Amino acid sequence: MSKPTSPVGVDGIQTRIVHNGRDPETQGRMVNPPVYHGSTIVFPTLDALEQSRIDHDNKDFVVYGRIGSASTFAFENAVADLENGFGAVSVSSGLAAVTTAFLAWAGAGDHVLVADTVYGPTRRFCDRFLTRMGVEVEYYDPLEGAAIAARFKPNTQLVYMESPGSLTFEVQDAPAIVSVAREQGIATALDNSWATPLYFRPIDHGVTVSVIAATKYIVGHADAMLGLVVCDSEESYFRVRQCRNQLGQSLAPDDVYLGQRGLRTLGVRMPAHQASGLALARHLADHPEVLRVLHPAFPDCPGHETWKRDFTGASGLFSIVVKPRRREALAAMVDHLRLFSMGFSWGGYESLLVPQYPAVIRTATRWTEEGLVLRLHAGLEDIDDLIADIDDALTRYARQP
Ligand SMILES: Cc1ncc(COP(=O)(O)O)c(C=O)c1O
Repeated sequence: MSKPTSPVGVDGIQTRIVHNGRDPETQGRMVNPPVYHGSTIVFPTLDALEQSRIDHDNKDFVVYGRIGSASTFAFENAVADLENGFGAVSVSSGLAAVTTAFLAWAGAGDHVLVADTVYGPTRRFCDRFLTRMGVEVEYYDPLEGAAIAARFKPNTQLVYMESPGSLTFEVQDAPAIVSVAREQGIATALDNSWATPLYFRPIDHGVTVSVIAATKYIVGHADAMLGLVVCDSEESYFRVRQCRNQLGQSLAPDDVYLGQRGLRTLGVRMPAHQASGLALARHLADHPEVLRVLHPAFPDCPGHETWKRDFTGASGLFSIVVKPRRREALAAMVDHLRLFSMGFSWGGYESLLVPQYPAVIRTATRWTEEGLVLRLHAGLEDIDDLIADIDDALTRYARQP
């Protein structure tokens, strides 16, 4: 049913976004793969039933609803192909993709290295769950590059990256980290939710697995939770899929459908998010209330040169640092927004803004910037309207002490 690779002879990523995973001839001539609702899969013969006990962790093997259907496999293969992976494993949220990647490698007595700038709940999972399992978690400076090799121990199983990092957008030198990790047989994972397969392909840079919160830009409409782990080889795929299956992770068919549907327009939405994000960031860089813009496309963003070398674009998510003022000033700013909403997510069609506090989270590095971090997501509204809304908000902020 699912097409494991892009249409023959087609390299263009926009074309692959549109065509991957579709096969009208085997899907009743419908343009989209069908949504299969179901738990039970039936087997025609004893041979087929017995074979399923052997093959149930293998790619695209239909054995039981929890483990996936032709709908799931079409979506997984479509995204895996965009990232040039061997295969992808889908789960019920971005965080589930993160935890599945960790659990596929880390066990009692192992050591894992985690970027200090990871998404907050990723860190909570490491601190509260992995440590309880007997895993030693060590945080590292995301800008460390190949120097991370000095932290490797005989029991290091995984180096976990997120690039750019949550809240402050440091871009990691993934190829440098990968090259030293591979020499020691250490696996690497990278959270690629920000760039999406359109703007960065971790597996092309040697990363073992790419973690995607598809909830964000792939779904794109803020209406479903979805995660994917894209794997570089048959070996990593089998490891991750087996882990996902043993954890009982599953993905509802209607959410797979929303992921597929969102994916088809990723190629037109991302450039729009990028353009609005950059326009907002450039406008805000000159605003008297703004001390700093944290955006990988800005030359003073840590890792900017790496971003220019490895990425082909930017999404609409970035932060600004505004002058420090009292809580009343913050409330005056954010309680009367017209278009931006306050919310913890991003990647949908709508603009969002949320105050963030990196200084209280980091342990391997120190966030010493004076001022308040505001994370913004540029949605698909008219840019002039967004600029007017944020300018008015900053005027309300500046009026307070
Ligand atoms: C960088 C990053 N990774 C992973 C996740 C988790 O995704 P989900 O909300 O789908 O669990 C998020 C959510 O905000 C995120 O920002």
